[in-house]
Amino acid sequence: MCGLVGYIGKNLSRAPIIKGLSRLEYRGYDSAGFACLNPGDNRLVYVKAQGQLHNLIKQFDQKPIDGHIGIGHTRWSTHGVASQENAHPQFDCYKTLSIAHNGIIENHHMLKEQLMQEGHLFSSQTDTEIVAHLLESLLQIHKKLLPALISLVNQLQGAYALVIILQAYPDQMVVIRKGSPLCIGIGQQEMFVSSDLLAFADITNKVLFLPDQSFALLGKELLELYDFSGAPLLPSIQEVDSAWINVDKNGYEHFMLKEIYEQKGAIYASLAFFRSISHQIWDQVGLTSEQVKNLESIHFLGCGTSWHAARIAQFFFEKICLMPARVMLASEFRYMPFFAEKNSAYIAISQSGETADTLEALRLVNSMHIANIALTNVASSTAVREADGFLLTHAGQEIAVASTKAFATQLAALYWFAHRIALEKGIINLYQFETAQEDILIAAEALENSIEKYKKIIVETYAPYYAQYKKFIFLGRHISYPFAMEAALKLKEISYLFAQCYPAGELKHGPIALIDAETPIFLFSSLDSLVYQKLLSNAQEVKARKGHLVVFAFEGQKELIQLADACFIIPTVNPLLAPLAMTGLMQFFVYHIAKVLDCPIDKPRNLAKSVTVE
Ligand code: F6R
Repeated sequence: MCGLVGYIGKNLSRAPIIKGLSRLEYRGYDSAGFACLNPGDNRLVYVKAQGQLHNLIKQFDQKPIDGHIGIGHTRWSTHGVASQENAHPQFDCYKTLSIAHNGIIENHHMLKEQLMQEGHLFSSQTDTEIVAHLLESLLQIHKKLLPALISLVNQLQGAYALVIILQAYPDQMVVIRKGSPLCIGIGQQEMFVSSDLLAFADITNKVLFLPDQSFALLGKELLELYDFSGAPLLPSIQEVDSAWINVDKNGYEHFMLKEIYEQKGAIYASLAFFRSISHQIWDQVGLTSEQVKNLESIHFLGCGTSWHAARIAQFFFEKICLMPARVMLASEFRYMPFFAEKNSAYIAISQSGETADTLEALRLVNSMHIANIALTNVASSTAVREADGFLLTHAGQEIAVASTKAFATQLAALYWFAHRIALEKGIINLYQFETAQEDILIAAEALENSIEKYKKIIVETYAPYYAQYKKFIFLGRHISYPFAMEAALKLKEISYLFAQCYPAGELKHGPIALIDAETPIFLFSSLDSLVYQKLLSNAQEVKARKGHLVVFAFEGQKELIQLADACFIIPTVNPLLAPLAMTGLMQFFVYHIAKVLDCPIDKPRNLAKSVTVE
């Protein structure tokens, strides 16, 4: 959430910062800014613009500022509307220091009041500006940077990543981390700072992930790391594998479309990886074989699409591992009573591994010393570093804000993991395990083939037709209910059309009153024969009230297919993998509805890829 980039070194900072910001724009894009120290006189100069990064870039024509130390930011507003004043960087009273910030300063009200009483003048509604004025005030008191910073970090509450440049310290950049991600790339006589290593991954693979509650002073060849009490820390610099980072659209109109098409490959790559680690899996996920054999329940935590993957996985674990599985929204989990269970494990699911709600939930589980595993797509993420163990999906970098291939690989990973646990527990044998792995590949084929089969009719007929409607009802039952929720979320976030999802059995308990000619009903079928019969009754209830029915059915489901006004027929797969088989077509369909409506598909309004605030 918010893109943050800093540079100090032998070269000028504007080009690497703007390049880095353009790679991070998916994290926030309602305003942008750049500040640097003018070479020669070290004067702080800046440019800010409302809207996307290209608006900022245009301003450099009139004001071509640059310097060897600079910071840049793309914003996703939390405090104060998206405007030039509220764009980062923010400044102190005399514009002698400049701050870019990611996160939230929770005690900003109290601090602002105090600073206003001291005579500080504010020019924005942001919580970030408070940090600038507070540091200004602390520098006057302490006279030196280090004690001022120690005092600063001990007064700020909340989760934040901060990058600061000061006229008085032209050879040093300050970076601070509490809760929000921040990493430093170490180059040849140059240092890069960012909220995501994607910003500089092509320049250096030597990275320091700033430890939580620490700050650093950076120079072109300087790296001093401190904890919040001011005690020096030894930086642990890692070499990261950035080969998988691909930030090009490869000829596709949108990243989302490219990522929809990458799904089969991503599932194959993930499965190949799981097969390769199958023997050491328990070391990797931080459990012993004994613990796995004794597991009596499993819990999932996640948000948004990752939560939907967990809701689907609940069916995998209960059916395959024969144990109760519970799913909690990470944003709710922390505020609910916690009943610690014996022989239990938590799986925190997060594409980015940086979602604040999920990380806080994971930290809570960790603090109770209950086994926990991060299932994520990003090996260098905070979730991987903080969980007892981890399982990595191999979807490759997901750039579009709407999650597609991450969701598909989460499903594949969870299906595989449920079988791996069942194998360890002796519930299934090796042959059944092998079959399950093959089933994943069959579902990946079905996912891709169904896109190919319906591509033409979706683009030419269905997408333009359904884009005319303003509201939709989505229905599913059993395992297809959480999938229908994911489908409704996907439509809402990229097309801004209203889509309400219900479990199909609930229709008759109220929502049936909504059926009219203006509200198409999307129904997602199931391959469980009993559930299918029940869904068929629900479809008949819709048709009896002259509802317009769009059906995602499976081969052989003749009765349902006949009831549909529009129908997609998907190859049959293992019933538990029905959602995975429907994934590609569902995403492709909603993508094209959004395209007809000319929506900014990769960067929908109000959203950001990585939600690092609670
Ligand atoms: C929707 C979407 C979001 C994320 C959610 C959690 O398409 O992408 O709902 O799934 O913000 O993000 P992660 O998985 O990174 O924790």
